[in-house]
Amino acid sequence: MEANGLPSRTSILTAAARAFGSREPDVSVRNPDWLADRLIGPAELALITDHPIGNAPDRDFQEAMRDPDVFGFVWLMLVRTRFIDELMVRAVRGGATQLVILGAGFDTRVHRFAELLQDTTVIEIDYGATQEYKKCRVAAALGDAPANVVYAPIDFTRESLGEVLRRAGFQSGRKSCYICEGVSMYVPEAGMKETLRAIAAESAPGSTLLLEYLNRGGLELLTKYPTDDPECHRLGRAVRVRRARRAGPGVLPRSGSGVG
Ligand SMILES: C[S@@+](CC[C@H](N)C(=O)[O-])C[C@H]1O[C@@H](n2cnc3c(N)ncnc32)[C@H](O)[C@@H]1O
Repeated sequence: MEANGLPSRTSILTAAARAFGSREPDVSVRNPDWLADRLIGPAELALITDHPIGNAPDRDFQEAMRDPDVFGFVWLMLVRTRFIDELMVRAVRGGATQLVILGAGFDTRVHRFAELLQDTTVIEIDYGATQEYKKCRVAAALGDAPANVVYAPIDFTRESLGEVLRRAGFQSGRKSCYICEGVSMYVPEAGMKETLRAIAAESAPGSTLLLEYLNRGGLELLTKYPTDDPECHRLGRAVRVRRARRAGPGVLPRSGSGVG
C-alpha cells in the first residue's frame, strides 16, 4: 500500500461514508463531518468504486440508502463520529492541551473544531503516503492547514509511537486526548500492544484514550473483506476474482490498483 504512494483505501472508505452521511436530509441523523464531502472528490471515489459507497454520491440519497452496504456503513460512521466528537470535546474542556489522532486518515476534527482546539496541539499520525495525500487534498479543498496541527508519519508495525511523538514535539507532562478510531483492527496485535504501552508511558495523569476496537467475532468478519494489510488486499482481490468467475466470463474486476 505504501510503495505506490496512494492513500490507505480504508481511510477513503470511512471518509466517503461520513461524506455521504453528511448529506442526510434529517438533521437529527446527519453525520456532523460536513468537511468530508469536500475532501472526498471524484479522484478519491475512483479509488473505491468496488464498494457501493464509492458510487452512492451519484445516486439519489434515499435510493442509495436502501442498499444495506451503504446504510450500514453510513450509520456506523454516524455513531462513531458523534460519539468520538462528544468525548473529545469533553476531554479538551477537561484540560487536555494535546490531541493525538492515531491512524488519522481523512479526520477533519482539527478543522471542524478549530475554535475549541485553537490552544491545543494536534498531532495526526498515519502512514506517510496517506498523510502526504491528505495534505494535498486539505490544501486543495480546505486551504491552509491550521498552525496547531503537526503531521507525523508512522508504521505502527515497525516504529515506536513514543519516538514518533517526541519528534513531533509531544510533551508528556501535558494532559492529552488520544483518538484511535477505526485503526486497531488493522494493526497486528504486537504493534497495537506496543502502541498502547507507549500511550501509557507517555501520558500525563488525567489523559484520555478514545479507542475503537472489534471483538473476536468482528475481527473474523473483517478478514473476509479487504483491509489496509497487504495480505488482506490479496485476499480481497482473490475473493472478488472468485465472485466474478462465478458470475461468468468477462466479469473479472479491474486489476488491483494497490489500494485494495
Ligand atoms: C479505517 S482507516 C480510519 C481512518 C480514520 N481514523 C477514520 O476513522 O476515518 C485506518 C487508518 O489506519 C491507518 N493505518 C493502518 N495500519 C497502519 C499502520 N501499520 N501504521 C500506520 N497507520 C496505519 C491507515 O493508513 C488509515 O488511515
